[in-house]
Amino acid sequence: MAKFNEGFLWGGAVAANQCEGAYNEDGKGLSIQDVTPKGFLGPITEEPTPDNLKLVAIDMYHRYKEDIKLFAEMGFKVFRTSIAWTRIFPKGDEEQPNEKGLQFYDELFAECLKYGIEPLVTISHYETPLHLAKEYNGWSDRRLIGFYENYVRTIFNRYKDKVKYWLTFNEINSIAHLPLTGGILTPKEKLSKQELFQAMHHELVASALATRIGHEIMPEAKIGCMVLGMPVYPLSPKPEDIIKTMETDRANLLFTDVHVRGKYPSYTKRLFKENNIVIKMEPEDEEILKNTVDFISFSYYMSICESAEVTERGKGNIMGGIPNPYLEASEWGWQIDPKGLRYLLNVLYDRYEKPLFIVENGLGAVDEPITDSEGNITVEDDYRIQYLNDHLVQVAEAIEDGVEVMGYTTWGCIDVVSASTAELKKRYGFIYVDRKEDGSGTLNRYKKKSFNWYKEVIASNGATLK
Ligand code: BG6
Repeated sequence: MAKFNEGFLWGGAVAANQCEGAYNEDGKGLSIQDVTPKGFLGPITEEPTPDNLKLVAIDMYHRYKEDIKLFAEMGFKVFRTSIAWTRIFPKGDEEQPNEKGLQFYDELFAECLKYGIEPLVTISHYETPLHLAKEYNGWSDRRLIGFYENYVRTIFNRYKDKVKYWLTFNEINSIAHLPLTGGILTPKEKLSKQELFQAMHHELVASALATRIGHEIMPEAKIGCMVLGMPVYPLSPKPEDIIKTMETDRANLLFTDVHVRGKYPSYTKRLFKENNIVIKMEPEDEEILKNTVDFISFSYYMSICESAEVTERGKGNIMGGIPNPYLEASEWGWQIDPKGLRYLLNVLYDRYEKPLFIVENGLGAVDEPITDSEGNITVEDDYRIQYLNDHLVQVAEAIEDGVEVMGYTTWGCIDVVSASTAELKKRYGFIYVDRKEDGSGTLNRYKKKSFNWYKEVIASNGATLK
């Protein structure tokens, strides 16, 4: 097996809204997460409702010291989390930040650094302030760029000595599939392509602006984009399927193309023309987009198939897609494809030759806690170990292929509330959290079998993988 390079960033990932809870403490404002009790696939409520598990989540806001200590015990080199925009700017369009929110992340990042863990910070992880969603319809309004700029300047200045690794938007390409991820309250079926792509443009400009400002304030920092990574395979070798696959693939690659090349790729000319899209650009936009990222990060859970004829779609992480007859799926219907990760790493590296960072990967499953012979509560999650092992073996293969991989953070390294369906029974963690679907539980943390497995993988720098 190929060796992972020295300094490979092993770790885990979460997002503020899925783990912190404390949704209205210390001056925090409401975000779109506080009114989506069933996740992105469910309805929006007027006010936060008690059935919304994210309001308390796993209470990391109050328990982060215990959690980071456990991450350190596993040997994490990096911990990815997001800053909740609404802790810093409760409504989103204020000029002055909320000091208490800033202090919370000061302490959280200091706690990571105490153990030699680098924070990897997502600036916006599906956490648009609710006020910006209601008053401006989220990223469909260009004024969001200015509010986001104020927010990033504030956090870059505040955390420049603590945080080296930054991601501008979580899964920025998801806005094209699920506009709510960009705080857009208009249902997708009522949005024109023009409106969707204009919102995408606002996010792309904001992302490039953050990269420019970040480099000015923190010359040593590494700033990356983050996309939902999903290889697209043709369902058959029919030329029509190949062309359709190319088009679906480009709808995603468009986002990395702009972030890495600093301009819209040539194929967008036809795409925009045929869909009557005319992106409204301000004179400075082309220059701003030239601020390209230092690395590309992505989530990886599954691959999909594409066809010119078959229209029926399977279940998926926001995008859906045609199931691959050669693959098995998780309990949630997400198709498991470790080799797809090697393939995607190669595709992206061939195209850009930029360092890559896998910032999400993992298996959402129902875990059954048991009491072991020593009386400890645990979970025998061999299925998770198998899944992660098989994916990491393919990362090693990609490194052998010549791909530059900076690191790997598993999704939900401690159990969190899921994003698409806001469930707690869909668990990803090495650490079991005692909180049930009805909200009951002690919130105590317990090590699963995978905890020690990952600890050994990190300690051996991947040598224990099979
Ligand atoms: C990614 C998101 O899409 O997938 C995460 O960035 C999310 O926020 C993860 O949690 C897994 O999805 P889910 O719906 O199983 O939580």
